[in-house]
Amino acid sequence: MAKRTIVTLPGDGIGNIVMEQALRVLDASGFEADYVNGDIGWELWRGEGNPLPQRTLDLISTHRIALFGAITSKPNEEAKAELDPSLRDKGFVYSSPIVGLRQKFNLDICVRPCRSYKGNPLNFIRRGRGGAIEEPVVDVVIFRQNTEGLYSGVEWTNPPQQVHQALMTHPKFRSNYGNVPPEEISVSTRIFTRKATQRILNAAFEHAVKYGYKSVTVCEKPNVIRETSGLMWKMAKETQKNSFPGIQLRNTNIDAQMMWLTKNPEDYGVIVAGNMFGDIVSDAFAGLIGGLGFACSAQFSEDGIAVFEPTHGSAPKYAGYEIPIVNPIAMIESACMMLDYIDEKAIAGRIRNAVALTIREGKTKTYDMMKMTGSPDVVRNGAASTIEMTDAIISNL
Ligand code: NAI
Ligand code: MG
Repeated sequence: MAKRTIVTLPGDGIGNIVMEQALRVLDASGFEADYVNGDIGWELWRGEGNPLPQRTLDLISTHRIALFGAITSKPNEEAKAELDPSLRDKGFVYSSPIVGLRQKFNLDICVRPCRSYKGNPLNFIRRGRGGAIEEPVVDVVIFRQNTEGLYSGVEWTNPPQQVHQALMTHPKFRSNYGNVPPEEISVSTRIFTRKATQRILNAAFEHAVKYGYKSVTVCEKPNVIRETSGLMWKMAKETQKNSFPGIQLRNTNIDAQMMWLTKNPEDYGVIVAGNMFGDIVSDAFAGLIGGLGFACSAQFSEDGIAVFEPTHGSAPKYAGYEIPIVNPIAMIESACMMLDYIDEKAIAGRIRNAVALTIREGKTKTYDMMKMTGSPDVVRNGAASTIEMTDAIISNL
């Protein structure tokens, strides 16, 4: 069989460090692929005025699968100031390449698994009966609608007249805001479409069937946000009834879910939510399994583009260390999601077992796992470096 080509997008800061480690693990696992490097991130902005050049989009369009590290984003003023002098005042405007990728390829399905590894000192613990300490096993996969809802960017301050007039046709707008001058009003819309809602629901249910989860929980707020959350809940009920009768359907409100999170995290399997609530609930569950050093994710489009990436950013403050200290596991886990996707499940399983064994042995811990504050000293104080963590995982493969 022809070797696959995978686009690697290391990006900025620690994105480069963790990408290198993930590729070391993939090589050591026996997985064979050709890798082509795609330019993305801050240096591209500074040098070319575009953090996501067309040639990178072309590479992804051609090869369909990308492994992404992390990028640096900065506010507009700083972005302008750092632009190469030859490009200043030429109308270049910075926009996040992550959002760019999502929009360009319509990566509407975001998957964020949160599984606790036995022996991870960062695992959530709670008090049980008689004060006993319990460490619930967390095994949750969040399906977040990635393109619509509150993050779609359809918003205004001082909405244009037609928008204001349209809003005035709504009795609640009229009674609550009818007397407020438009220039004192900001509006962010929350639009859900049936198509995108059906796609994220199907993806969640299919995942539950494929990987043996008993339930799908819709985490929204349909009792208050009646139209959009209401649509998702209504469609979830139809989807379950018509296509997935063997999977239990549950409903939690995002606020209550944040409370139950620490009460009974072991009771959840697949969770599905709109864009913002999906963002919130996935960060919350990631906190229970060790945080940014462990949180991986994947994004998929309808026409078969897939991007795999750790949830963390480029952590610039840790990027220049002579001995890198950050935890490579989130990136390695993201690579495992890629292997699952291309049906290399046996290799993904071996890598995950090696990560699990390394954590369970407890000999090799990056600074975050030792609850240290990141600094160049952590390695001297007993933390494993990024490379040592990867070495340990490779030797356990
Ligand atoms: P960050 O995720 O880069 O770092 C926050 C903190 O989390 C770090 O200071 C570190 O303590 C910890 N951390 C992150 N990754 C870790 C790892 N692998 N191992 C151990 N500890 C880790 O977020 P921050 O500082 O808010 O943003 C830094 C830059 O990254 C910004 O420019 C931001 O825009 C960008 N960013 C990019 C993302 C992406 O590329 N997907 C996501 C989030 C932020
Ligand atoms: Mg987030």
